[in-house]
Amino acid sequence: MPYNILLIVLSLSVVLLFVAILQLMREKRHNLYLIDSLKRERERNRSYIEDLDNLLALLTRFQELGMAHTKVDDLENFCKLIVDYSTELLNTKMGSLMLIKKATNELEIVAARGLSDDVVDHTHMNIGEGISGRVAQEGKPIFCENIERDVRFMRHSKEKYASNSFITVPLKVKQKVIGVLNVNSKKTGRKFNQRDMRMLSILGDQAAVAIENIQLYNDLKEMYLGTIQTLAQAIDEKDPYSKGHTKRVAEYAVQIAKKMNLPQKLVRNIEYAALIHDIGKIGIKDSVLNKPARLSDAEYETIKKHPRIGERILAPVEFLTNVAPLVLYHHEHYDGNGYMEGLKGEEIPVGARILNAADSYEAMTSNRPYSKGMSKEKAIEELKDKSGSQFDPAVINAFLDILEENDPSEDTDNGTTLNEAL
Ligand SMILES: [Fe+2]
Repeated sequence: MPYNILLIVLSLSVVLLFVAILQLMREKRHNLYLIDSLKRERERNRSYIEDLDNLLALLTRFQELGMAHTKVDDLENFCKLIVDYSTELLNTKMGSLMLIKKATNELEIVAARGLSDDVVDHTHMNIGEGISGRVAQEGKPIFCENIERDVRFMRHSKEKYASNSFITVPLKVKQKVIGVLNVNSKKTGRKFNQRDMRMLSILGDQAAVAIENIQLYNDLKEMYLGTIQTLAQAIDEKDPYSKGHTKRVAEYAVQIAKKMNLPQKLVRNIEYAALIHDIGKIGIKDSVLNKPARLSDAEYETIKKHPRIGERILAPVEFLTNVAPLVLYHHEHYDGNGYMEGLKGEEIPVGARILNAADSYEAMTSNRPYSKGMSKEKAIEELKDKSGSQFDPAVINAFLDILEENDPSEDTDNGTTLNEAL
């Protein structure tokens, strides 16, 4: 082969080899890019799956709480839980739940995390005002990466926001907005994204249904208690000498229960029970109930039926399930010599032991048709004398402390009414 031709062939081979190497390098770069993209996609999916797992876990916890039922009847605590879940889910420092107050049609903060008490107590927003008001008005979520740069909020840019990136979703039940759920300030410093908004919306939808259920349950409860209170007042009215008796017994009982550091829920049940403890007297004849003389044995036996009648009235009402036994046993004695069932000591519910002491002290110090009320000093002596027999010594110790400090019934303005306690 001539030298020139050999040179051309060699040159062509070198060029082809160079092209092939370039092609290989390009493919390798492309493959590396693909691998990198796949890695990024996998990371995205992994974080998405983690988020979904978190959401699923929270929704499961919702279910466990019996959100569609009435296990959680304390609206404020439930809303705190929702804020905790929301801030946990989106890893934020701040969150708040606002509900529309029926009386004023304003949004008010019911629960919050990361906000000062002052902000929580004094934030009221008209529907349509600010971001929360706008979400409440339009019923659509607002998600903003940076409020300072978002043209939708330029009018409000001078307002103080907790952070530049935030999400607000409506709490809607059957297309009606009942409030809003806000989160801001991601702990990582990252901005929120559309996915965060979708997750908060799912949580908000579930929360709204539960809140509506609790509100309906509370309305029903208020209606029942209102009816029962009217009945209790009617009993007070039947006997002019005992007018105001139940309210004073409730004031004593609540003070004793608080002094004994009983749980808040039990204190509330004791108050309900005190206000309606004699509701069973509605089934006792007026001629016996208001007899202006000492009762015969038979009449006394009739009167003694009133705790059982009261318990029968209250027991069918679901939320008074824990109140009914206190009414049933409010005439039991610590030593077992009382009625209805002759229970003794710890067998008697503590609420009923408190009611017995409060009821007896009030009866001793009140004027009756057949007797003048005792002085406070004399009644205190009676409490001491019967401590350990009729009365639980622990209850009497707490009661004596209170009576020494002041007489709760003398300051009627501070007394809690049934409606206020709701
Ligand atoms: Fe009674």
